[in-house]
Amino acid sequence: MRKAARTAVAGLLLTMAAACGGTPPGGGATPSGGAMTGRGPITLATGKDTSRNLQNQVDAWNKGHPDEQARIVELPESADVQRDQMIQNARAKSDAFTVLALDVVWTSEFAANRWILPLPQEQFDLAAFLPPTVATGQYRGRLYAAPWKTDAGLLYYRKDLLDKAGVKEPPKTWREMEADCAKVPGVSCFAGQYEKYEGLTCNFAEAVNSAGGTIVDPATGRPDVDTPAAERGLDFLVDGFRTGLIPKQAITFKEEEGRRYFQEGRLLFHRQWPYQYALADRHDGSSKVAGRFAVAPLPGLNGPGVPTLGGHNLAVSAFARNRASALDFVTFLSSEERQRANLLASSEAPTRAALYDEPELQAKYPYLKVLKESVLNAKPRPQVVRYGDVTAAIQEAAYAAITGARPSGQVLADLQTKLQTLTRS
Ligand code: GLC
Repeated sequence: MRKAARTAVAGLLLTMAAACGGTPPGGGATPSGGAMTGRGPITLATGKDTSRNLQNQVDAWNKGHPDEQARIVELPESADVQRDQMIQNARAKSDAFTVLALDVVWTSEFAANRWILPLPQEQFDLAAFLPPTVATGQYRGRLYAAPWKTDAGLLYYRKDLLDKAGVKEPPKTWREMEADCAKVPGVSCFAGQYEKYEGLTCNFAEAVNSAGGTIVDPATGRPDVDTPAAERGLDFLVDGFRTGLIPKQAITFKEEEGRRYFQEGRLLFHRQWPYQYALADRHDGSSKVAGRFAVAPLPGLNGPGVPTLGGHNLAVSAFARNRASALDFVTFLSSEERQRANLLASSEAPTRAALYDEPELQAKYPYLKVLKESVLNAKPRPQVVRYGDVTAAIQEAAYAAITGARPSGQVLADLQTKLQTLTRS
């Protein structure tokens, strides 16, 4: 094409973009369709920053991008409340949130409702990420959220107390765990997250999967939770509360309440995500268990358990301005350099595979090997568009059983019926 013609075409495209609401550099109207255009200030909407390192990450970006400053919009700790606020924002077509730190379980729902934009997949080196984490950011074969931080349930245990009791290895089964607890008086045995919120769904899924059951069969997409295996799994939690193996107050635990309980030295075994490692290991007086604990894969009914896959990916809101800046910011935060820095500061699990094999990182974090294995063994929660309703039904069922309000068999039969309705397409 001759130069004059090229200029004319470029001019025409610009006019068309402006007519469709395209953003001139520096802000203006929301770009039309999925165009990743527009530069200027952006926000990152995210749950409560339990890593205590997010501001450092954002500062690193801001240093190099004076005209595209990023600001954190911190939402509450509970995943369900974060989801509600992000959905409200999307329904109002508000541009208040530019980049969303999207829980891995919301991708389908947000993509199907067109609340987030497809990302240019070819711009992300997806082969460099742990495969299960890539899948959590995809919907119908397209990438909607860049893999950022992953998560898998881990067993934190008081190595000092097990050593003292002559127990050489962390337990591989629930029965072994119970036997270990009998040898260590003075502390509660085990806890996870059991308040009625998303964390309970994660813990319920772990119990069911670790007993050989499933909630929704990934192969068929059909619910299959009304089974003897699922009941044995749920009963691990029900019996735990009934017998006192799980302390009563754990019914109010989300991640942070449990972390404080563990750090106060009141628990022998704690089911928790990777972020707890760095905080519990602080030698500044904030943790009584610093230097006294280790991490193992979760135990299960007849052998190692099946952790739930968690984590957060980065998506761009469909109602955002300054999307070109947003895309660069997503690329920046998910880069190997930023993920390394975040791991060093926070112990949060990276999605970049190579970091797990770096000797320097392995030396600082002896739990990296267990972490990688746990992420690779982890099972995703049901990947469904109506996830909000699905998780509410699971939470209702699990909570009724663990509080002793209703028998396990009955709640699982009801849950199966509800899930059948919710997953029917
Ligand atoms: C963690 C996980 C997330 C999960 C949440 C539940 O933040 O990364 O996937 O939904 O915990 O509390």
